Amino acid sequence: MCGIVGYIGERQVQPILLNSLTKLEYRGYDSCGIAVAGDGIELYKDAVRVKTLSKASPQFNGTAGIGHTRWATHGKPSQLNAHPHLDCSGNIAVVHNGIISNFQLLRQQLTAEGHNFTSETDTEVIPHLIEKHYHNNLENAVEAALREVEGSYAIIALAAGEPKLVVAKKDGPLIIGIGDRENFIASDVPAILDYTNRVIYLEDGDIGVITKGKIRISRDGTEVSREEHKVLWSVEDAKKGGYEHFMLKEIHEQPKVIRDTLVGWVSAEEPAVDLAVMRGGIESMLIVACGTSYHAALIGKYIAEELLSIPTRVEPASEFNYYGQTLARTGAIVITQSGETADTLKAMRRLKDGGCPVLAITNVVGSSASRIANQTIYTRAGPEISVAATKSFMAQLIVLYWLVMSSSKADARRLADLIMGLRQLPGKAQQVLDNEDKIMEHAAYLSRYENVFFVGRGINFPVALEGALKLKEISYIHAEGYAAGELKHGPLALLGKKVPVIAIVARDNTYEAMLNNIREVKARESPVIAVAEEGDEAIEQLADSVITVPKVDAVFSPVVNTIALQLLAYYAAKQRACPIDFPRNLAKSVTVE
Ligand code: F6R
Repeated sequence: MCGIVGYIGERQVQPILLNSLTKLEYRGYDSCGIAVAGDGIELYKDAVRVKTLSKASPQFNGTAGIGHTRWATHGKPSQLNAHPHLDCSGNIAVVHNGIISNFQLLRQQLTAEGHNFTSETDTEVIPHLIEKHYHNNLENAVEAALREVEGSYAIIALAAGEPKLVVAKKDGPLIIGIGDRENFIASDVPAILDYTNRVIYLEDGDIGVITKGKIRISRDGTEVSREEHKVLWSVEDAKKGGYEHFMLKEIHEQPKVIRDTLVGWVSAEEPAVDLAVMRGGIESMLIVACGTSYHAALIGKYIAEELLSIPTRVEPASEFNYYGQTLARTGAIVITQSGETADTLKAMRRLKDGGCPVLAITNVVGSSASRIANQTIYTRAGPEISVAATKSFMAQLIVLYWLVMSSSKADARRLADLIMGLRQLPGKAQQVLDNEDKIMEHAAYLSRYENVFFVGRGINFPVALEGALKLKEISYIHAEGYAAGELKHGPLALLGKKVPVIAIVARDNTYEAMLNNIREVKARESPVIAVAEEGDEAIEQLADSVITVPKVDAVFSPVVNTIALQLLAYYAAKQRACPIDFPRNLAKSVTVE
């Protein structure tokens, strides 16, 4: 998704902008560009990678500038559609994330007033509106321009001859990084981590005027103060650390992520979570999320219904926004790694408007989700750079386990066993990783196929969905996740020698039924790879091959099974020479509906 950077200070701006843009590449983009302010505005942009832009761009002289990575929404990826965009005079430059919903009307009006447009984008109306209202004061012109636009935006504007950046946001993330006689702007923390860890999160409606020595934020003309935060992520956290891909590094970080997420929860200092959203006569729970976070939510439903005995509904945010009813006496949880997913944020607003208290589980401190929620729990996964979510999913699961267990009325002995099981999870996760070489062999075999089914039952049905999602998004093998019992209601027609089935088997009440499902599949000649507990002889005999995982309480089986499936997807994609960290057409943070 689009990324924004800006700098004003005493250093040459161009290398800083280009370096910061490389840190946003993980979000997914198709074009990029920079603008530097001197006496005029110097601009270079194209539908290329940042590396190519760096080589091709002329050297610009200046200490203030803006940059952008674009993910096309309005208009194809092209040099003209790339940001920054300029006004007619070429003296005002703007980068923008979001969508201006009334851009067509504004464009018609501005064209009638004599403005010339060069791109197909919605963004281009912004520099023209600023130009229309510009009387040697960029801040006033930006304010006036934004009064005319509808939609979502995070913008940085730059004007020749004015040594300042003007920033504004509505429904899109924007942060200011504070330096020493220099300041940074970015849509995302990794972009500024090389320079500072002191940040201010802007709020919707804020307009900021940033010079090298001063940050002034106002809303509706009145100055406001915004708290400074320290980002705990280190530069190293956002680097590959010797791994070939971020995804592999992030998969390997999971034992640590589980440990870090548990510290503070399963500890004497903080023995129980005060689940505020579940107070006050709440009778049911609703969990809303998208993609991989939605799969974590589905697992949350199984845990909550088993250990809390509370009816729990799970909805993909994109669906809930159009038909789901908010329920009376319902406590809502939203799960979002980035805290910026447009569908999820829309659902949150809807829930709050409907009177549901909302708890957000997110990985990004200061994200929009954390500001909308009544209560926020941060997963402690560290920055997740690879587009495919892995360690953030794990951290979400751990939070859900602990949330549910800390409110559970299950008998004391069962709870004590579960807490013990939770504490052992980092070691169990490590055991799965230690089996990497074997999983690699399974992946090499799988990579030859074009269609694969993942099946599971109960708490491992969402694991099948997640396994299929990981495989399809990074290896481009068509993969479907199915409830194993549903195969006979249609998908069996597709099975055969060319369609392997990955069967996720847990030692719970679904075990015998899963064995029967595997028999069903084998009878149709599909090769079966089972993911099953070590020492399970029945599975060894039945399946064509087995990926073994360590023994855990079945409640925790999604943890070990998912790690095995992440590795399977990773190595299958590697075998097929896919661009693992940046799959085609996908973005890390989906800030459009
Ligand atoms: C898949 C993946 C996506 C995200 C989804 C939600 O690997 O990463 O499906 O899970 O876009 O993102 P968040 O959790 O940031 O709301």
